[in-house]
Amino acid sequence: MSPRTLTFTIFRYDPQDPDDTPRQQEFQLEEAPGMTVFVALKMLRETQDPSLQFDFVCRAGICGSCAMVINGVPTLACRTLTANYPEGRITLMPLPGFELIGDLSVNTGKFMRALSERLAAWLHPKSVDHSHDELEQRMEPHLAEAIYDTDRCVECGCCVAACATAQMRETFVGAVGLNKVARFALDDRDCREVDDFYHVIGDEDGVFGCMTLLGCADTCPKNLNHQMQIGYLRRKLALHPRIL
Ligand code: SF4
Ligand code: SF4
Ligand code: FES
Repeated sequence: MSPRTLTFTIFRYDPQDPDDTPRQQEFQLEEAPGMTVFVALKMLRETQDPSLQFDFVCRAGICGSCAMVINGVPTLACRTLTANYPEGRITLMPLPGFELIGDLSVNTGKFMRALSERLAAWLHPKSVDHSHDELEQRMEPHLAEAIYDTDRCVECGCCVAACATAQMRETFVGAVGLNKVARFALDDRDCREVDDFYHVIGDEDGVFGCMTLLGCADTCPKNLNHQMQIGYLRRKLALHPRIL
């Protein structure tokens, strides 16, 4: 059977160029066996348009850089086979909710860094003794597993792009932010109390602004359990008497 010809409709816009306007551009490309959307984009850039902008680092679903909206769904280009689209028509848009760098490239790094700083998403250790003789703190395997599960987030931004609340309110922390908080709220080496987390996500910009429609869970390429994280944080914050 001869290979299919794929038709790509790609968002083009360079916000640095005052003469440019947002538009869509069509490209044709012969499909190769096992081709991913990332490979197709690379071939388009090499053979048809070197100015095409998109991001990638690992090509293995690990770095989160290649997230974009593929036929309406935020996902990773390097983990998406062109064979998934029997019509052979693929529309590519940049992730909404992030600063556009150009074409399909968005600045998720800036967003994630600001979010981590705002949520203080790092371990606040109970012990201040950092001597080399100190033994590692023991942890129950089920707790280590739960923390490891939250740590699988690759900060791709798909959950933010798929979240209606995040699109309506840019101060909303999104599923990625709630996941970051859950990671440290679970960790019994962290000295923060429930009230400390309440001050960070105990309002409309945090866990009580979430509508629980779970667009985040539907699109997360790492299959993080957002439903469980959101439920866990809500229970933890709602059942605990708030200390003012
Ligand atoms: S469940 Fe909450 S975080 Fe997830 S997409 Fe809906 S509003 Fe956003
Ligand atoms: S929670 Fe999932 S969708 Fe959201 S940034 Fe992390 S890996 Fe991406
Ligand atoms: S290039 Fe790293 S996740 Fe796709």
